Amino acid sequence: MRSVDEITGNCRMRRNRRFDWSRRLVRENTLSVDDLIWPIFLSEGSGISEPLATLPGVNRYSVDKAVEAAKRAFDLGIPALATFPNIAMKKRDITGSAVLDPDGLINQATRAIKKAVPDIGIITDVALDPFTNHGHDGVLREGIIINDETVELIARAAVIQAEAGADIISCSEMMDGRVGAIRDALNGAGFNDTAILSYTAKYASAFYGPYREAVGTDQMLKGDKRTYFMDPANAEEALREAMLDVNEGADMLMVKPGMPYLDIIARLKNEFAMPVFAYQVSGEYAMIMAGVEKGFLEEERAIMETMTCFKRAGADAILTYFAPKIAEILSK
Ligand code: PBG
Repeated sequence: MRSVDEITGNCRMRRNRRFDWSRRLVRENTLSVDDLIWPIFLSEGSGISEPLATLPGVNRYSVDKAVEAAKRAFDLGIPALATFPNIAMKKRDITGSAVLDPDGLINQATRAIKKAVPDIGIITDVALDPFTNHGHDGVLREGIIINDETVELIARAAVIQAEAGADIISCSEMMDGRVGAIRDALNGAGFNDTAILSYTAKYASAFYGPYREAVGTDQMLKGDKRTYFMDPANAEEALREAMLDVNEGADMLMVKPGMPYLDIIARLKNEFAMPVFAYQVSGEYAMIMAGVEKGFLEEERAIMETMTCFKRAGADAILTYFAPKIAEILSK
């Protein structure tokens, strides 16, 4: 029988792993606070910071409290926030017309945060789901999500969000032609420098449950989103989506959910010379926290490992509800 040195030709992979210092020297990927985007939920009213049952540790903030959260995020070094609103049910309708309200919750929050914390980036989403009375991301007519009518609305919403001060407009509804239409509308209104973060590969996933509760669409949503979000079985389709988004003028691409789709992150990163973001969605957060609460997972290690894996896959930034916690861990 050959000795191990004969088998490996004297190569011992474990040599570099012996010490903490040597592991640090050969480490290929590291996470920094610069990689974090914090998604926050907004509610109407004031003085509200309400915990969400399915997202332990995550609160929904009224605008004044969102400003405080933004200050905290900025002090922690988090580069940007993404906002998601929970508006009164009576303001929701079939076309999601409240998305066009310049004084709507998202726009109020953008203005207030930009005033108090001008140097934090604000990402706002034009998707219609928080504004429709059926919880779908587009205009619903006779059971069908109407693509072009939705695109027209969200392009107008993008301009209104840019006027409120949003730095990056994101689109999470997977309508065809949306990125180009948003670019045209922004440029037409003089917002040539407002960026577009496209949810390029957004999958029809089971991992969005807690988010839907947070924005109040869980009860109303009938059916699923498979006619517009991507089939979890497909990867090449994500490349075609990315090709379109890049040609239409996207500044950044996103993959959502995150962890089950690391291969998509890696493929987009390899194929396109573009910033690629990952969205560690609500169900991923809830899954980790459930494991922690049961005592099955070590909280800090589990969270940080997921972050490292996003970086290894090629993500430039990660949207995660853990952002403030991670920023605190990184600053220790
Ligand atoms: C919809 C939207 C979703 C999320 C953000 N915007 C998914 C959905 O409701 O279908 C999910 C975010 C999360 O789960 O954390 N435009």
